[in-house]
Amino acid sequence: MNNITTFNFSLGREERNQLNAHNSFVLWFTGLSGSGKSTLANMVEKLLFEQKVRTFVLDGDSLRKGLNKDLNFSAKEREENLRVAAEVSKLLVSSGAVVLASFISPQQANRDMVKKIIGKDDFVEIFVNTSLETCEERDVKGLYKKARAREIKNFTGIDSPYEQPVNPDIEINTEKENLEEAANRILKVLQKKLELK
Ligand code: ADX
Repeated sequence: MNNITTFNFSLGREERNQLNAHNSFVLWFTGLSGSGKSTLANMVEKLLFEQKVRTFVLDGDSLRKGLNKDLNFSAKEREENLRVAAEVSKLLVSSGAVVLASFISPQQANRDMVKKIIGKDDFVEIFVNTSLETCEERDVKGLYKKARAREIKNFTGIDSPYEQPVNPDIEINTEKENLEEAANRILKVLQKKLELK
């Protein structure tokens, strides 16, 4: 970018990681609306917090109320929503936090972009695999009903696609495993990643 130089700050991620005594990275939860992404992120965050790990949760609904309030649900603006989410996640990683990012991120291309921005070593993809039937049956926010009635357009799973991740780092099948078990399973996988080199 033109006329932009980077100031070389004395303190960086490494110093903050040392101070916190743990590594920082992003857990990226992808799945349909109502699949349980944010509920699971919330549970994992609480478990990490008990372990004195610095954490921060970012989710679609909250980002879209503030920072990204000008963005809609077209493929193009979802991409921009996710680009911003990934850049914010990256900043939070350098602040020393373990970031729990919960976004539908419907396309493989979206998730590839996010992974590229964050960096593959700091990115853990968690696929919250709940079938459309179950999400629609639960319909916690009443949005599926509105989407079927065509009151909402471009709704993921109804008239906008969701491409399942092919090779996620962790997959949670919420119809076979309860969320508490899943959160504990995720925490186990993270222990090694939290350790400083
Ligand atoms: S993403 O596709 O850009 O990753 P994001 O996770 O930020 O989506 O936002 C999804 C949330 O927005 C849903 O959980 C739901 O509450 C709400 N929402 C409103 N309209 C839509 C829509 N057309 N498609 C999907 N989610 C929607």
